[in-house]
Amino acid sequence: MTDQRPLYASLTAYLEDLQESGIDGIPPELMAAAQPLPPTPPAAVMAQSPPPPAEEPQEIVGLHETLEQIRKSLGACQRCKLGATRKNLVFGVGTPRARLVFVGEGPGADEDSQGEPFVGDAGKMLNRIIAAMELKREEVYICNVVKCRPPQNRPPESDEVQTCSPFLFRQLRAIKPEVVVALGTSATQALLQTKVAISKMRGKFHDLDGIPLMPTYHPSYLLRTGGNSDSFWSVWDDMTQVLQLLNLPVPNKSRKK
Ligand code: URA
Repeated sequence: MTDQRPLYASLTAYLEDLQESGIDGIPPELMAAAQPLPPTPPAAVMAQSPPPPAEEPQEIVGLHETLEQIRKSLGACQRCKLGATRKNLVFGVGTPRARLVFVGEGPGADEDSQGEPFVGDAGKMLNRIIAAMELKREEVYICNVVKCRPPQNRPPESDEVQTCSPFLFRQLRAIKPEVVVALGTSATQALLQTKVAISKMRGKFHDLDGIPLMPTYHPSYLLRTGGNSDSFWSVWDDMTQVLQLLNLPVPNKSRKK
């Protein structure tokens, strides 16, 4: 049975936003949002085909909420204590039509200064992984569980995750990716509402409200364990499964010891 709590938390945050903006009825689209995401048909190319042109501008969000609307509803967020110490809120980067979304833990110092996720050393490692998959950073979407830097790069605390993750779930609902890759413990545990260790979760797909989610080691962990170690190949094995699920070619990599 799928755990519906992330969806309810996301809907609650969304309702609060609506209330703040003076809307007091529930739009039918939002009622529909309580249903699981519809299955996405397999596609042979990386970019999703563009949706048919809308007949009228969509005023009401809900199921069709855009990333821009979600960013706007975050505003100059001070919903948790991380707001007080951040330089920049780090929302996410990439295409809103990504078939593949990478979710990290939270911004570090470089991301905090630049306002973009994964631009420091861990970002360089993530770029290597994306390039090894023969994809481009612009073809995927990259974001984090928390949008503001935790002081001293500590893992986000549970109240921070609880406050911020509804926005992550809304981002995922807006993008509707075919696969999510959770990078490391914080992302895996926040997305799947579990306390199980990453080493036990990685290597197989888990269900995230109808979207296959692959947990894998965080790029910072790869940096700590050295570029060509077993952990790197574990990540590559996980990414191989992701490419296969996306029906994309799996580049051949030789495992020299
Ligand atoms: N680590 C993360 O988890 N996210 C970032 O954006 C950068 C480093």
